[in-house]
Amino acid sequence: MLLNWYHGLALAELFTSSSALLRFSCSQLVTERLDPLVNPGVVGSPHLHQIIGGNTFNATMDPKTLSIPDAATCTTCTFAEDFSNYWTAVLFFRARNGTYHRVPQKGNVYFEESNGGMTIYYIPGYRNSKVTAFKPGFRMITGDPTIRTREEASKYRQLTYTCLQDPMTRTGETLDMPKKPCPAGIMANLRFPTCWDGVNLDSADHSSHVSYPVGGTFENGAPCPSTHPVPIPQLFYEIVWDTTRFNNLAEWPTDGSQPFVWSYGDAYGFGNHGDYVFGWKGNALQKAMDTNCNGDRCNGLTYQAIKTGNACTKKPTVNEDLSSWLPELPGGMPVTDSKGNVIM
Ligand SMILES: *[C@@H]1O[C@H](CO)[C@@H](O)[C@H](O)[C@H]1NC(C)=O
Ligand SMILES: *[C@@H]1O[C@H](CO)[C@@H](O)[C@H](O)[C@H]1NC(C)=O
Repeated sequence: MLLNWYHGLALAELFTSSSALLRFSCSQLVTERLDPLVNPGVVGSPHLHQIIGGNTFNATMDPKTLSIPDAATCTTCTFAEDFSNYWTAVLFFRARNGTYHRVPQKGNVYFEESNGGMTIYYIPGYRNSKVTAFKPGFRMITGDPTIRTREEASKYRQLTYTCLQDPMTRTGETLDMPKKPCPAGIMANLRFPTCWDGVNLDSADHSSHVSYPVGGTFENGAPCPSTHPVPIPQLFYEIVWDTTRFNNLAEWPTDGSQPFVWSYGDAYGFGNHGDYVFGWKGNALQKAMDTNCNGDRCNGLTYQAIKTGNACTKKPTVNEDLSSWLPELPGGMPVTDSKGNVIM
């Protein structure tokens, strides 16, 4: 099920293949405990996030009153029309003495000068498919931070990790965190569902208005279910966690387990999840999907340099130490197992 199309497909081929897709860099906007989707209005959400995209990101972002592309003044993405926000949890290293250190992020292949952040893909499909771009007010979440088992994680497709042997490694994706040190870091991969109910911009759980295809995968062109008949682009995040300074096995747990823990208290990795709030200007994304744009350049869209994206940042509204060795995860988030027991 995991991405057979991707295995063995060199990155260069991905760019030049007849199926066009957007692949572009978005630098870090801010890292803080806010979550306008799950905890709107709350300053100090339960767990820490790293956020990229437009600078209207804040605790509220009420879709009834906020027009993101009108209110934003900058974006960390290299498409200047994209003021969307994309966010995930943050990875920490847990030392033998029980303290936690934030794992830095770094720019992906070809986007090395990016100040952390993520690589974002919008993929219309691999068979010249027509897709409907997201609409203003659209938001969604994929994955579930409460999941701690492989069985539960399997209900989501393609929320994975790549143990980078070098920056180009694109094989061997796993549902749980790599068990051995990864020489070039750990890449988290998140692919969102690709079928929409065509009506709701959001839903109570932020995910039931979207669905996976039926009888196959997005990659092999399977159709959308009748409940969610509208094909939407596959939104795909790649995040490179620079774990290399934590690769000394002498500092790893004595019981042989791996030392990385997500900010939502997951030491296995099965709760991998990502959030999205659409914020493209006008019909820029629809045009890009319709005109087979490829990579990070597109006729009709404005490219801005990575260093311009690096300069778009926000001051955190939640002020707390995120750079020292910390006695606990930010917000005091406990590390839990599948039964909810606190294990660290
Ligand atoms: C978020 O930004 C909007 C304007 O974009 C503003 O009206 C609102 O008060 C802000 N909320 C917070 C919690 O800062
Ligand atoms: C805990 O371990 C880390 C990593 O070895 C070290 O840098 C830090 O100083 C230690 N902290 C305490 C309080 O011993």
